[in-house]
Amino acid sequence: MSERTLVLIKPDAVSRGLVGEILSRYERKNLTIVAMEQRTIDSALADAHYAEHVEKPFYPGLRDFITSAPLVALVLEGDQAIDVVRKMNGATDSRVADPGTIRGDLSISKSENLVHASDSTESAKRELALWFPELD
Ligand code: PPS
Repeated sequence: MSERTLVLIKPDAVSRGLVGEILSRYERKNLTIVAMEQRTIDSALADAHYAEHVEKPFYPGLRDFITSAPLVALVLEGDQAIDVVRKMNGATDSRVADPGTIRGDLSISKSENLVHASDSTESAKRELALWFPELD
C-alpha cells in the first residue's frame, strides 16, 4: 500500500555535505520525493515535532542540535514507505546500526545520527501535517 512518511536530513548531515548521498539512496530505492525544503527551525517547531520527548533528559541537547543549523525536510512516498525508510535509516544509535544502512555507513554517533523518519502511521500523519500542512 502506498504511503507517505516524513524524513528530516538533520543539521549534521547537511553540514557534512551528505544530503546528495542520502537523497540518492532514497531515490535509488524508488521512493518518490513528494516535497522537500531546506530550513532552520525554531524551538517551537522542535518541541512540537519531538513532543513525546521534551521531558526526557537528552531533549535540551537534541533541541539545541536540531535548531542549530539548516536541515532538509522531505516527504517520501512509496509502498510501505514508513517501514522501508526506517529500515534504510538503521538503528537510532549509529554506533550499532547495521552496515548498509544510512546511519551504519555514514555516522558513528547516537545524537548526531543524520536522519529522522516517522515511526508509525500515526506519527507520519501528525508529522506531515506539522511540516507540510499545504499537502493536507
Ligand atoms: S526513547 O527515549 O527511547 O523513546 O528515545 P529514542 O527513540 O531512542 O530517540 C528519540 C529521539 O531522540 C533522539 N535521541 C537523542 N538525541 C540526542 N542525544 C541523545 N542522547 C539522544 N537520545 C535519543 C533520537 O535520535 C530520536 O530522534 P529521531 O529524530 O527520531 O532520530
